[in-house]
Amino acid sequence: MNDRVIIFDTTLRDGEQAPGASMSLDEKLRIARQLARLNVDVIEAGFPISSPAQFEAVQRIAAEVEGPIICALARAREEDIRTAAEALKPGKRTRIHTFIATSDIHIDAKFGDVRYGRTLAEKRQTILRLTDEAVRLARTFTDDVEFSAEDAGRTDIGYLAEVVQVAIEAGATTINLPDTTGYCVPDEYAAMFRAVIERVQPPPYVVFSAHCHDDLGLAVANSLAAVQAGVRQIECTINGIGERAGNAALEEVVMALKVRGQRFGHLAVHIVTPYLMETSRMVALATGFPVPPNKAIVGRNAFSHEAGIHQHGVLRRRDTYEIMRAEEVGQQPEQIRLGRHSGRHGLFSRLARLGIEVPEERKEEIYQRFLALADLKKEVYDEDLRRLVEAKPTADPE
Ligand code: KIV
Ligand code: ZN
Repeated sequence: MNDRVIIFDTTLRDGEQAPGASMSLDEKLRIARQLARLNVDVIEAGFPISSPAQFEAVQRIAAEVEGPIICALARAREEDIRTAAEALKPGKRTRIHTFIATSDIHIDAKFGDVRYGRTLAEKRQTILRLTDEAVRLARTFTDDVEFSAEDAGRTDIGYLAEVVQVAIEAGATTINLPDTTGYCVPDEYAAMFRAVIERVQPPPYVVFSAHCHDDLGLAVANSLAAVQAGVRQIECTINGIGERAGNAALEEVVMALKVRGQRFGHLAVHIVTPYLMETSRMVALATGFPVPPNKAIVGRNAFSHEAGIHQHGVLRRRDTYEIMRAEEVGQQPEQIRLGRHSGRHGLFSRLARLGIEVPEERKEEIYQRFLALADLKKEVYDEDLRRLVEAKPTADPE
């Protein structure tokens, strides 16, 4: 267990919580099947208590999608947990994920009612009790229970360790400590896990999990730092979609663990990476959230080269400017894109690939005309090149 990282995909739950990203039942089922082909370990299929549509989506995914563990989210409340268990009933391998807020800011905002206690200390005691009750109830439905301390990243470390201890004693098998607000920086987030693990001394079957939001653009960096601190599950979404600025992007986390494996003790990740590109496109289409061209791994430009020096380099040896193979993530290999920064090498190797032979004496003239055209356009396409070569050279006024 310790030698691999569990990939927990929450595209259909936290991802769908991105404003404007809601998906139909059919789209969710299609994406869940694709996530199973991608071989993610866990699919968080939704939050069943939140709406009848969410309930149905979780139920259908649990019934129809085989392979990954199917997980449903529930607040630390009896009704939520029973509803999650009901939605998961048709599944073979299921997980209930229950959560409660633990930071002072969240306690103040969410537990104002005096029935939770009058002071912060009393409210904290109530949260410990609710944690215990929620995890114990969830365990009556499944052996696989995940507990999350919401806003762990801003929670007092001593209290966080107490909550984690209670959750483990009640039967939680996965402990997720989310950076709910995307506030942490990598060494701080890693230190939080080290401190909790040190204080709690968890039994070996307990898996610690990272769940990072991208408010400061650090979700992937924080997730990777957590792995270096002993975490063995990462919660992430395709294309990094999610609440506000989003969650850690699955494709980036996975490729970082693979490409820089030695930095992480060569932990195994069981994702079938050549499906990353088509999964990314499917999610972009279903949510209506386009993938920016410069997005790492799955962006259109992620393996494209326009500058002359770069083109010359990759045409000789791809690893001069590529740290992974495009095919490994389902992208087209050797994407030489022609534009105003391209050089002779890139231009003539593209013409040769198109089967166009350019006599030596015309090469300079064609290159100059190519540059003039490239100045007028964002990109020069194969059709432009054909026209350019076929056109008669303009007469020299001298
Ligand atoms: O960001 C968060 O804290 C969450 C929890 C429900 C895990 O999404
Ligand atoms: Zn979240």
